[in-house]
Amino acid sequence: MSFAIDLEGRRALITGAGQGIGRAIALTLAEAGAAVVVNDIVATAADAVVEEVLDAGGKATPLVFDVTDYGSVARAIEEQGGVDVLVNNAGNAGVDGLVTPTNFVDTEPDDWARYFAVNLFGTMHCTRAALPSMIANGWGRIVTLVSDASRNGDAQVAPYAAAKAGAAGFCRSIAREVGRHGITVNCVSLGTIETDALAAARPQTPEGIERSKRLLKAYVVRRWGTPDDVAGIVTYLASPLSSWITGQTYAVNGGFTFSL
Ligand SMILES: NC(=O)c1ccc[n+]([C@@H]2O[C@H](COP(=O)([O-])OP(=O)(O)OC[C@H]3O[C@@H](n4cnc5c(N)ncnc54)[C@H](O)[C@@H]3O)[C@@H](O)[C@H]2O)c1
Repeated sequence: MSFAIDLEGRRALITGAGQGIGRAIALTLAEAGAAVVVNDIVATAADAVVEEVLDAGGKATPLVFDVTDYGSVARAIEEQGGVDVLVNNAGNAGVDGLVTPTNFVDTEPDDWARYFAVNLFGTMHCTRAALPSMIANGWGRIVTLVSDASRNGDAQVAPYAAAKAGAAGFCRSIAREVGRHGITVNCVSLGTIETDALAAARPQTPEGIERSKRLLKAYVVRRWGTPDDVAGIVTYLASPLSSWITGQTYAVNGGFTFSL
């Protein structure tokens, strides 16, 4: 048996791959041989990542659509002729960027909608559009990025946590429906991953710095995660090596929480 991850001949769509974790996943999947389809709602961001992949000798094309718009998603994936690997990465607060921590009692239903639109419905839209070609080919991999906030709970991000928990529950159910077609469906649950956007948004006030230090002590490995910490496991779950793993949620969190 070979342990090399070989995705040669596979088309892998990564949503929200114009920056951060999605960008790292696109670069790593391309390094493993996949022809990556780099989605983002921001065309220039998708183009820049495609350039990076091509410069590194990989295969990539941009595919601009809004994951919250099912019509655009379905059209774009159909025009591609389907995909073999789908990574549901677009998330957080969607086009508005990162999650804004707010006590639930200070929010209204309109504030919740954007979290559901991108993290839950975006995942459902892309999965719905990607499944027909996977079923026809008798092979597919779906990996969805969720959050430890959805497994463990986290104050001030309840609508986001609820949307991610919904996405994880959705993926477990889809795993049961499509396993017989050679399609696996898994989630990766993240602790704090130090993306450029997150580092730039971290408050540099004395209280903000103190809060970060306190939070970091809860991470057994004593550092924030990096996008590359995520890209490795996603690439493994996208590969033929993981064909007997489905319906699972893997925590990638430096030991922030443990699960049985
Ligand atoms: N960074 C973390 O600490 C962390 C922790 C837990 C979970 N996550 C999850 O990991 C994933 C990636 O996180 P990140 O920090 O790299 O995100 P990010 O916000 O830095 O990047 C998200 C990308 O998605 C794109 N995007 C947003 N809305 C879109 C839409 N409707 N359609 C298409 N593209 C869209 C954005 O333009 C952006 O390029 C998200 O699902 C996030 O919820 C991140």
